[in-house]
Amino acid sequence: MTYQTLLFDVRDGVAVLTINRPDKLNALNDQVVDELAHAAERVATEDAIHGAIITGAGTKAFIAGADIGDLAKQGPFDGKARALRGQAMLRRFETCGKPVIAAVNGYALGGGCELAMACHLRLASDNATFGQPEVKLGIAPGYGGTQRLPRLVGKGVALQLILTGEMIDAHEAYRIGLVNKVVPADQLLAEAEKLLRGILAMAPLAVRLALEAVDQGLEMTLEEGLLLEANHFGLLAATRDMKEGLRAFLEKRAPKFENR
Ligand code: COA
Repeated sequence: MTYQTLLFDVRDGVAVLTINRPDKLNALNDQVVDELAHAAERVATEDAIHGAIITGAGTKAFIAGADIGDLAKQGPFDGKARALRGQAMLRRFETCGKPVIAAVNGYALGGGCELAMACHLRLASDNATFGQPEVKLGIAPGYGGTQRLPRLVGKGVALQLILTGEMIDAHEAYRIGLVNKVVPADQLLAEAEKLLRGILAMAPLAVRLALEAVDQGLEMTLEEGLLLEANHFGLLAATRDMKEGLRAFLEKRAPKFENR
């Protein structure tokens, strides 16, 4: 697939995905969603890609939401289908088994906030703005906002944002736990890459299973989640990387992980 609305650049194992409709503040029309779905599949399946950063083109917006022009034309069935397509695309990033970081460089509204929440970590530039303004338009969040926002920030704060449509700045987003860190705008991509490369220096299979345990475990009882964790813990003992990581510590040297 040749992307029209997305830049996809892979460098030394890191894929940088830039949503590229700056004149429309990178709003997610159907084409962007389709291209992102394709890109998510690439991130999940290509061995040369070890992790990804998602950002928006220009200096103003990460993603200013779903494309309101598209939404204005939808009826109940294609509306539902659109929500399901967007949700599936986000879920593919969330479950791709490799770390995905949102580098939020401006407005992250509606679907933009939802895309950021489906990433594993979120860095925000100090000029970023977050919100779920759907109710102002007569719709409700459709790309996972009603589900991921309360999981990230708690039910009370999530409902405050979803019911009022209020926008919050990067520092408030950090205070409520919606973003992991706020950095100056001109350092955002470098900081995101530094964070990602730090994770990529860890044992990849351990990172993969930790991601899976947190993702799956949140939907389980504590007993089930603990059992899943113990199973992963045991499974990792079969990897060469676990042996290497422990041996390297004991030999006081840096480990060399092989993803095996
Ligand atoms: N869908 C489609 N187009 C959008 C868009 C969206 N979600 N958000 C912005 N745009 C377009 C605008 O229509 C405008 O296009 P135009 O130049 O062809 O008229 C362009 O992007 C620039 O936006 P503009 O509104 O002029 O910028 P601003 O700085 O005055 O305001 C926002 C920025 C983000 C506050 C404002 O664009 C906005 O409220 N956008 C919608 C946010 C939203 O409700 N998102 C959730 C959708 S479910």
